[in-house]
Amino acid sequence: MRGLGLGGALALIPPAATSPPPPRRGRFLSSPASVAADPPPPQFPSLTGIMRANSKGSISIARCKRISAMSNAEDSLGSLKKQLAKLFEVSLRVTVPTETDVEPLVAACTGNFGDYQCNNAMSLWPRIKGKGTEFRGPPAVGQALLRNIPPSEMIESCSVAGPGFVNVKLSNSWIAKSIQKMLNHGIGEWAPKLSVERAVVDFSSPNIAKEMHVGHLRSTIIGDSLARMLEFSKVEVLRRNHVGDWGTQFGMLIEHLFEKVPNWEDASETAIGDLQAFYKESKQRFDEEDGVFKERAQKAVVKLQGGDPKYRKAWAQICDISRREFDRVYQRLGVTLEERGESFYNPFIPGVLEKLSNLGLVEESQGARVIFLEGVNIPIIVVKSDGGYNYASTDMTALWYRLNEEKADWIIYVTDVGQSQHFEMVFKAAKRAGWLPADNNSYPRANHVGFGLVLGEDGKRFRTRSTEVVRLVDLLDEAKTRSKAALIERGKDKEFTEDELEKTAEAIGYGAVKYADLKNNRLTNYTFNFDQMLSDKGNTAVYLLYAHARICSIIRKSGKDIEELKKTAELSLDHPDERVLGLHLLQFAENVEDACTNLLPNVLCEYLYNLSENFTKFYSNCPVIGKPEEASRLLLCEATAIVMRQCFNLLGIVPVYKI
Ligand code: ARG
Repeated sequence: MRGLGLGGALALIPPAATSPPPPRRGRFLSSPASVAADPPPPQFPSLTGIMRANSKGSISIARCKRISAMSNAEDSLGSLKKQLAKLFEVSLRVTVPTETDVEPLVAACTGNFGDYQCNNAMSLWPRIKGKGTEFRGPPAVGQALLRNIPPSEMIESCSVAGPGFVNVKLSNSWIAKSIQKMLNHGIGEWAPKLSVERAVVDFSSPNIAKEMHVGHLRSTIIGDSLARMLEFSKVEVLRRNHVGDWGTQFGMLIEHLFEKVPNWEDASETAIGDLQAFYKESKQRFDEEDGVFKERAQKAVVKLQGGDPKYRKAWAQICDISRREFDRVYQRLGVTLEERGESFYNPFIPGVLEKLSNLGLVEESQGARVIFLEGVNIPIIVVKSDGGYNYASTDMTALWYRLNEEKADWIIYVTDVGQSQHFEMVFKAAKRAGWLPADNNSYPRANHVGFGLVLGEDGKRFRTRSTEVVRLVDLLDEAKTRSKAALIERGKDKEFTEDELEKTAEAIGYGAVKYADLKNNRLTNYTFNFDQMLSDKGNTAVYLLYAHARICSIIRKSGKDIEELKKTAELSLDHPDERVLGLHLLQFAENVEDACTNLLPNVLCEYLYNLSENFTKFYSNCPVIGKPEEASRLLLCEATAIVMRQCFNLLGIVPVYKI
């Protein structure tokens, strides 16, 4: 048991039971006892507490300036759930002053008891029972927690239910006011507050001259969305494309290039042709011929790694051709990335390995240099038995670089789950070295964001009919072609300009591919199906984009100047369906926070889908145009459209306004 450990002789008297009631601004309608203590001035413990490991391996608090700046930011708005948690934190400190380490447990309610509930009473009870507490059970603890909530205009009423849940019903006018504030100050008002200043998101990361496959597409889509959520939450994000641009395969590629394309120095993409085929050809020669080519390729690697200008130039040219192909994909997807390939870290490897050796971590094993790790059968190999470096040497070095040179607090790697063990080993080695703190929740922190396979209709790994790999550019183009055809079928080619038609087809086509990927829990495999993802029914991007466009059209049709209304009209939430929608809008911040801190974009997709459902319900029960509530309801429409657009933006989907 933690806390002060008071003996039985000293009764724990909650101040709530003895002090006079505080002045209240909010109403507590169903609060049975209105006696409550004057709450002390809120003293929030630091909610951030970023820990940094120093180079010697011990953990020290660093960047104090940053941390205090962040704590101040914490005191401003934040998510609805966090705001309530702060109220309950004050109440907890007053109700059970000895239990200083108890954090408020606040969750959204699903039933009819309230909008949120605080669940601390039940877990507090065993901690204080028998220690002279005057409470007679968890419900009494719940009652005291309720009484000690500081006055707040957020709250309409509170009640205690069952074994001690404290239910909170939020005030209608507060919800309305908060939405109105967002309408006037922008959606940035509702950005989550995170305790991270700089993050690296390592995503996409295809390999030069090899296939950029659907796995890289998933990584690109998921990584971009996580980066967007972090950026929206005011985190500085270093978007890193860790392309596989280094390694022994370049020896054979370069030798093959010299032979196949004699004027390689000014050879264009077309002269070399398809790089994947080029890779296959050279690999075949490397494997099958009499060994002469193999020997030349091996010598070429030595020359390349030794910095021979001719070999470097050929290498750069091969990389460039791949890069152009990758960029076509990024351009279609609207994804920006900074290339920091494996080759970038190569010069730093010896130094980093020396640091690890000096710490006594590197051991000899079967001719290789390895680091043994607790709980893993095999060690991580940092120098191969032939003296060369590998994927792990590069990743250890990249991690060191990101922590020490780039000073990232959070490093996120997005790859298929097949690489989970690799990252687990890299992180464990970094913990042994003291680069990362031992516990996973402190900072700096590293996380692997794994994802499942993309399957075809046949339930097998996604391929085209010819069993050849799918070119991602072709795949994306097909999504666009199909969505354009659907628009033309609905006569939009007559309504839209050519440019509008193109842009809408792109937004829908690429949006459909992205949403189909993001809406699933990333760990599950998902089936790639154009018909399904481009359907305008069900939980698809098309349905959601249409829903958004419809809201925009309601506002347009009203003929009202919405900007003017934002300043002059008042939003109220009198109808139950208006309230449900309003509350859901206000829960945007905690859903973004949940999605990005747990690295699960599907949480945001679910939020967006439910938002659209809540809007539909509101719109079918609450007529807007020409009704006395018109101005207020138009504001609610506008707020919904703004939140939907922000969700699209965070998912990397371009919204459409007309359909
Ligand atoms: N190039 C790798 C692949 O295609 C992914 C790299 C992921 N990032 C990293 N730091 N290892 O599988």
